[in-house]
Amino acid sequence: MFHIPLTSLAAHFGNIDIYLFDQLLKGRISKGVKLLDAGCGEGRNIQYLIQAGVKVYGADVSAEAIDKVKSMASELAPALSPKNFVVADLSAVPFADAAFDVVICSAVLHFAKSEEHFRSMVQELWHVLKPGGMLFCRLSTTIGMEGKLQQVGERMYQMPHGPVWFLADEALLREIIAEINAEMLEPLKTVLVEQERSMTTFVLRKAG
Ligand SMILES: C[S@@+](CC[C@H](N)C(=O)[O-])C[C@H]1O[C@@H](n2cnc3c(N)ncnc32)[C@H](O)[C@@H]1O
Repeated sequence: MFHIPLTSLAAHFGNIDIYLFDQLLKGRISKGVKLLDAGCGEGRNIQYLIQAGVKVYGADVSAEAIDKVKSMASELAPALSPKNFVVADLSAVPFADAAFDVVICSAVLHFAKSEEHFRSMVQELWHVLKPGGMLFCRLSTTIGMEGKLQQVGERMYQMPHGPVWFLADEALLREIIAEINAEMLEPLKTVLVEQERSMTTFVLRKAG
């Protein structure tokens, strides 16, 4: 039987999000699928996927982050085109509708500037997803933190660690999920980080 030694787990998987790892274990991301990491940052969630033969694309508003991802991708998978990685706001990504089998968006949506911006990002991620495709999102929300955070504007909250974030509540998430007519592949899952923040994961399938 093939073993990955405990000491090389990080070398294989990098700092991949544990809830995304859960989707891998469930077999929902396979070799050869076309995957967009929306708000990829420096690419911690795609290091493994690139090596595993997933056709990875990335978008991020930060040019510096995209440069770093391009150089990581060129080292790990020289055949992957640097054109797969683009500087863009998630409300308008330069990819065709129904281009991707999987879209992941980890720790990005709470940087929305307003509810309109939040909705337009989710809509855009939904548009670029193929029928039958999966959208995985992990974001900070108010779930489980109701009344514990300082609200400074419409859905905007002063976070205990400093920044002001846009926090959706459960009702908004469910409203949007119903509007786009998505199937929930998992229940909403929320982790409370002490009295600091709440991180919610939703995993949706687009009707085939
Ligand atoms: C906390 S990092 C998360 C990066 C990566 N997804 C991860 O899980 O490690 C947030 C990233 O979202 C990007 N970002 C924030 N708002 C964005 C927007 N409206 N459109 C595209 N990228 C955005 C930032 O530039 C940053 O790289």
